[in-house]
Amino acid sequence: MATRSADWESIYRAAELAPWEVGRPQAPVVRLAEAGLLSSGRVLDAGCGTGDHTLLAALQGADATGVDCSATAVGRARRKAEERGVSVRFEVGDVLDLTRLGTSFDTVVDVGMFHVLDDEERRRYVESLASVTEPGGTCYLMCFSDRQAGALGPRRVKQEELVEAFAEGWTVADIAGTTFAIAPRFGGEAHAWLATIQRATS
Ligand SMILES: C[S@@+](CC[C@H](N)C(=O)[O-])C[C@H]1O[C@@H](n2cnc3c(N)ncnc32)[C@H](O)[C@@H]1O
Repeated sequence: MATRSADWESIYRAAELAPWEVGRPQAPVVRLAEAGLLSSGRVLDAGCGTGDHTLLAALQGADATGVDCSATAVGRARRKAEERGVSVRFEVGDVLDLTRLGTSFDTVVDVGMFHVLDDEERRRYVESLASVTEPGGTCYLMCFSDRQAGALGPRRVKQEELVEAFAEGWTVADIAGTTFAIAPRFGGEAHAWLATIQRATS
C-alpha cells in the first residue's frame, strides 16, 4: 500500500533531512536545467519535498511551482526560497488532484514522485498531470529503476510500466538509464530512469 500523507509528514518531522534527501538537486535534473529545458514558462515540481528542484527551475528563470502533501516539507522549501531570495510558489496539495492549483504548466518535473505511488494512484496521477499540462508540454520523470537490486526504498519501475502508465494522451519520447544520488548510508547511488514524456498536442 502507498504511504499516506500523514506518514510523509511524520517522516519529514522525524529528521532535518528525510532519508531520500541529499541536500542538493539530482544531477540528471541539473543537466536538464543546464540544457535550458527548465528555464522558461510555468514549471511544476510534483511532490517537491523541500523544493530543491523547484528552486533550481526558478533560478533558471522559470515561473516555478512546487506541490507536496507534507506541510513540513513545504515549510522547509519556503524557508530555503526566502533565504536564497528566490521567487517561487510552494503549495501544500495532492498531486492526485492538481486542478485545485487553478493553473496549467508547460513543464513538469517529477523526482521520486511516481515511484512512491501504487498502481491505482499512478492512474489517478497521470490523469491529474494531464489536467494541468499544456498540450505539447513535457514531463521529466525520474524514478528508481528495476535494475536496482534489493527491496530497500521505493518501488522499482520497469520501462514498460512508464510506457503503459502514460499510454493515453502522452508520448514517452525517451527513457534514459541514469542514477539517483542517495544517502551514503544507503549506498550513495541507485539505478534510475529519466523519462521524457510529451503531452499530446490536442
Ligand atoms: C521520495 S520523496 C521525493 C521528494 C522530492 N521530489 C525530492 O527529490 O527530494 C516523495 C515526495 O512525494 C510527496 N508525496 C507523496 N504523495 C503525495 C501526494 N499524493 N501529493 C503530493 N505529494 C505527495 C512526499 O511528501 C515526498 O515529499
